[in-house]
Amino acid sequence: MQDISTLIAKPLCHARIDTSALRHNYALLKQAADGKKLMLMVKANAYGHGLLNVANTLSPEMDQQDAFGVARMFEAVQLREAGIQSRVVVLSGAMSFNDWQLAQQLNIDLAIHNSEQLQSLQDFCSGLRDGEQCHFGVWLKVDTGMHRLGFLLKQVPKVIKVFESLEKHLEKPLVVMSHFANADDINDPFNSAQEKVFLSVKTAFENSQISSIEFSLPNSGALLSRSNNESTWMRPGIALYGISPFQDASVNSSHLKQVMSLETQLISIKHLEKGEGVGYGQNWHADKPTRIGIAAIGYGDGYPRELPNGTTVCVDGLACKLVGTVSMDLIAIDLSGAETAEIGTRVQVWGDELPVTTIASAANTIAYTLVCGITQRVAVDLV
Ligand SMILES: Cc1ncc(COP(=O)(O)O)c(C=O)c1O
Repeated sequence: MQDISTLIAKPLCHARIDTSALRHNYALLKQAADGKKLMLMVKANAYGHGLLNVANTLSPEMDQQDAFGVARMFEAVQLREAGIQSRVVVLSGAMSFNDWQLAQQLNIDLAIHNSEQLQSLQDFCSGLRDGEQCHFGVWLKVDTGMHRLGFLLKQVPKVIKVFESLEKHLEKPLVVMSHFANADDINDPFNSAQEKVFLSVKTAFENSQISSIEFSLPNSGALLSRSNNESTWMRPGIALYGISPFQDASVNSSHLKQVMSLETQLISIKHLEKGEGVGYGQNWHADKPTRIGIAAIGYGDGYPRELPNGTTVCVDGLACKLVGTVSMDLIAIDLSGAETAEIGTRVQVWGDELPVTTIASAANTIAYTLVCGITQRVAVDLV
């Protein structure tokens, strides 16, 4: 009997992760940040690129001052369990007292965005032994207008009082941060409005008794389009993965290199006569005899069902058109632009041949949801 491990079928769908593009984007962002510190956002499985793939690629060469940013405690623990020693920040903060203990043991920074968390930090600090300090960093979130997480400007004086008494317990400078709601639109006046509120918060902290404070406002969009003089830290996510953070495709971000290419192959070729349709709902019909390629990818892999007829698909590097409804496992492609394509031919649905932002706008969504949405059935390969 043949060893079963040699018989195991390989996945058809691959997300190719270009590690040199990732390093290129990091270097570029570091340069754009003008020497400021970066919190590299690796939440949500590094925007679908693989948390450990990304952390292991970047950590050997990243500036020791930089950090990784995640949304949940378990993502930070995963990084520590994998031996990543860089600074790690959990943006949702502690959800229980236990999380402070874990943060202390594993040296994981926590955000504080509500009064309950602030109280629980005070409780944690009051339980410290004489001379013992919090090894973790504290990132205080202020709400400058997004109204999602954080303390409002009017709550800041009270919060400052708490930190004036807590500072002796903190090993690292307190970081005061906020988040832009509309940085994807460089002309939106709300960006400046938020900056103005953040500057008032900054002044209040600078006039306090707290001696060691840092500030962090920009995400990718702001990092690439604004001066960000108020910040010590920048927090790029999407740009790290080589994807433009801007709604407007004409805003130049061509210097970024797309890191993920989602690829599959043709598994069947069909010949349709004029008037014949393809797929569920038969929403596309051939207007002439047409060679159709059936590729092994669908919404079960994270390729959106909403994509319309005519969406570009690259068949062996040649631009072709999606025809018919996207099914769970399959799509149909008009092979008129790729005469030599056959079963086994490579198909790219986004990546270095095809910007994911183009596909996202065709699906009436943003590129973030596409890269985050690839499913477990897709093999993630580092190249
Ligand atoms: C608090 C915070 N900072 C930074 C980022 C990174 O944003 P972007 O991916 O647009 O750079 C995010 C992303 O959602 C975030 O929630």
